[in-house]
Amino acid sequence: MMLLEGKNLSKRYRRSGQQTDALNGVDFTLAEGEILGIAGMSGSGKSTLLKIVSGLEKADSGELLFKGQPLPQKRTKDHYRAMQMIFQDAPSSFHPRRSIASSIRETVTALRGRQAQPDMEALSELVGLTPDLADRLPGALSGGQCQRFAIARAVAVKPEILLCDEITSALDVSTQAVILQLITRICRTGNMSALFVSHDLAVLSCVCDRIMIMNEGRVVEEGATRKIIEAPQEDYTRKLLSCVLEISNERDNA
Ligand SMILES: Nc1ncnc2c1ncn2[C@@H]1O[C@H](COP(=O)(O)OP(=O)(O)OP(=O)(O)O)[C@@H](O)[C@H]1O
Ligand SMILES: [Mg+2]
Repeated sequence: MMLLEGKNLSKRYRRSGQQTDALNGVDFTLAEGEILGIAGMSGSGKSTLLKIVSGLEKADSGELLFKGQPLPQKRTKDHYRAMQMIFQDAPSSFHPRRSIASSIRETVTALRGRQAQPDMEALSELVGLTPDLADRLPGALSGGQCQRFAIARAVAVKPEILLCDEITSALDVSTQAVILQLITRICRTGNMSALFVSHDLAVLSCVCDRIMIMNEGRVVEEGATRKIIEAPQEDYTRKLLSCVLEISNERDNA
């Protein structure tokens, strides 16, 4: 049985007379312990898919199965706990006038109850930071440190799936590498799965078991990471790959 399965998911946005089919019949599966990468050009529907999985948005049609059971329209607290979103802009995902530790405690209480107390020392250690940093406000940390604590907050509620939306895009290359290693290690050792969105196939190739390519709300190609990177079948995927190569050449020449 798949941990998570999406069947024929569609989502249309309407705004000032215009309509956009953000998702147009998307099917996907996520196995237990698997990290599934999702790539595609801007506007291809990657964030929309993650929002629908997390429960932040509702699909117009289609079905999401979690451990073989359809996720209900109104999710339980336990469903929210099981699927944790991590965003690109980590600093703004924390309350600006509360310490990081207090924000993490609040999330844990909301999703796991009053009795559950996060072990801030262990959580800080897990993400490679000293616990005293958790007493700071988000504004007094670097973007990379905030992103580590955002990962710690997600892990603190004991989720089964991490939903990562461009979580390294705002970070410099060396910090990116640290975050990617962290996510991989957490998933492997904690037996967690992840949907990992990035427009950067080089980033995905570091962390993902499998990659799904999206274009205009549809899945155009899907397969093992190595196969997608080394032998892409679709022109669109080749174009995405060549963008990555151009950027890394520019970096090398800089
Ligand atoms: N709340 C909204 N209202 C109207 N249109 C929206 C809304 N959210 C997304 N869209 C549209 O749906 C399409 C898919 O958007 P989505 O954010 O999922 O793309 P994406 O693949 O995450 O892009 P990016 O790489 O730029 O983050 C886009 O055309 C976008 O403009
Ligand atoms: Mg997006």
